Amino acid sequence: MRFWTECWQFYRQFREQYHTTGAIMPSGRALARAMTRPMRKLAGPRRILEVGPGTGAVTEEIVRQLRRGDQLDLVEINGDFVAFLEQRFSEEPTFRRRRSQTRILHSPLQDVPGEHEYDIVISGLPLNNFSLELVDELYRSYERLLKPEGTLTYFEYAWIRDLKMPFVGAEERERLTKLTHYLTAKIRRYQIDDEMVLLNVPPAVARHLRFGG
Ligand SMILES: C[S@@+](CC[C@H](N)C(=O)[O-])C[C@H]1O[C@@H](n2cnc3c(N)ncnc32)[C@H](O)[C@@H]1O
Repeated sequence: MRFWTECWQFYRQFREQYHTTGAIMPSGRALARAMTRPMRKLAGPRRILEVGPGTGAVTEEIVRQLRRGDQLDLVEINGDFVAFLEQRFSEEPTFRRRRSQTRILHSPLQDVPGEHEYDIVISGLPLNNFSLELVDELYRSYERLLKPEGTLTYFEYAWIRDLKMPFVGAEERERLTKLTHYLTAKIRRYQIDDEMVLLNVPPAVARHLRFGG
């Protein structure tokens, strides 16, 4: 993919749909590698769900690692991103090769049906933008859709809540504080590994969690 085309599309959605897009530019290759680490540890066939693929920065790394027999579902809430992804899957050889193993679902994660469907969930959702109620709903969807021994991987920008705190009003500070407590409790209970990725703009932490198994 032409790097600047992808960045431009992402930036447009950042301007038009800030709340759900949550970032100014797509993830870099180093972060995409960190996000797909569980794939490299699991023998196939694997069922993988990517949540919030956006322009496909992490998807590109996923399709590179996909093997025959694997199944990939992408769930994306933004119709413009869905159209962009469809185009990549029809035009770019790395994507086209895996088209028959991939479904693109235009939907919010919360509406994806099923229970214990996936071995791996890789999520780019900008949790820090959302209310505590929505984050809880999204977490319940991750748990419902993952097999008990499956792995959830998501990223957050490093130190982002602490960096924002001094610059926001009381209401936003309260939201961020509640979110920090909620997410820290989940991380303490379920995180099995994490990885700081400094080679990303901005630097990010990839977190790997397992709910059971
Ligand atoms: C920070 S961007 C990440 C994009 C891409 N994964 C990356 O790393 O460059 C967040 C993505 O999540 C999508 N999104 C937000 N809320 C969603 C939801 N409830 N269900 C599915 N996708 C959602 C946005 O449209 C956007 O594509």
